[in-house]
Amino acid sequence: MSSIIPVGIAGVGSYAPERVVPNAWFEEFLDTSNEWIVQRTGIEERRFVAEGENTSQMCLAAARRAMDAAGTTGEELDMIIVGTVSPDQQLPAVANLVQVGLGAKNAACFDLNAACTGFLTAMVTAEAYIAAGRARRILVLGAETLSRFIDFTDRGSCILFGDGAGAAVLMPHADCGQGEILRTTLGSDGEGYSVIEMPAGGSQRPATHETVEARDHFLKVRGRDVYRFAVAKIASLVREMLEGHTLDDLCAVVPHQVNRRIIDSAVEKLDIPPDKVVVNIDRYGNTSAASVPLALDEALTSGRVEKDKLVIMAAFGAGLSWGGALVRW
Ligand code: UT7
Repeated sequence: MSSIIPVGIAGVGSYAPERVVPNAWFEEFLDTSNEWIVQRTGIEERRFVAEGENTSQMCLAAARRAMDAAGTTGEELDMIIVGTVSPDQQLPAVANLVQVGLGAKNAACFDLNAACTGFLTAMVTAEAYIAAGRARRILVLGAETLSRFIDFTDRGSCILFGDGAGAAVLMPHADCGQGEILRTTLGSDGEGYSVIEMPAGGSQRPATHETVEARDHFLKVRGRDVYRFAVAKIASLVREMLEGHTLDDLCAVVPHQVNRRIIDSAVEKLDIPPDKVVVNIDRYGNTSAASVPLALDEALTSGRVEKDKLVIMAAFGAGLSWGGALVRW
């Protein structure tokens, strides 16, 4: 899709809760070990929210940083989109709380559910609005408090996830002069609906004593199936985004932080120099919709993103869903 108005990423920000949870914490109540977790996932620690802390508060912290970086006020925002599967409440949207916190009284606000692809889905949606001239400043967020939705009796999944939030402000490239979005893609395969799911709590199986006792309100993951899908998907998204450009033009690939081994296998298939791949899963685990913007923000603040070079973002998750973006910084 060719943009009518080229769109830029004017500012990025992120937030991770203060509470650090090392792998050893799980050894106290699960048949697992730090060694297994590090070797199979690359995760050494993750962040969990404190009592009383929630998704909208993390969104606000990340949003304020992104808006400072973009030099934008709340009143200037036309829209706020939050990608999350762990909202404060089933309804209304987290985006409405972000609106209040930022004084963004002119913004249309909604959340979207695209799991780990949430941030990219929000970004691609925002890009389309701005490209079409229907909005000028949009705040997009990916944020999760998965620590409240993981099953701490399931050693195959609970060790994977962490909490956090990431944000970006999009505007016409002519207004910000950086982060030009050159190409994007979104896709889905609903045949994989049950690969990653929270089976109860919706209209199909509303909450009952039985669903709570069966622990069906927690996240269920078929890890091996995700593994195969993820290696292939990172590789195909990066190839698609890079088409027509060379590896020399590229300064950073920011993949969804799903598992260190998955990222490494995909990178090996692609022949990308490993130092161009942004990985912070060792410190944050898999933060779902927050993972790409958290890693992008780190890459920007550590100077790994170079002016006029290309950045590729690649995410995938429940749905199944996936999304990619090519940005010239
Ligand atoms: O963002 C989307 C959501 N993310 C994902 O779905 C994650 C994608 N998948 C993965 O990261 C990996 O598949 C896992 C890390 C979840 C699992 O690693 P694996 O190498 O695929 O292991 P496995 O599932 O094949 O299990 C191997 C063994 C099993 O024991 P047996 O049957 O061989 O005796 C598991 O029960 O490892 C056991 N195991 C554990 N052992 C110690 C599973 N979890 C643990 C654990 N500690 N935490």
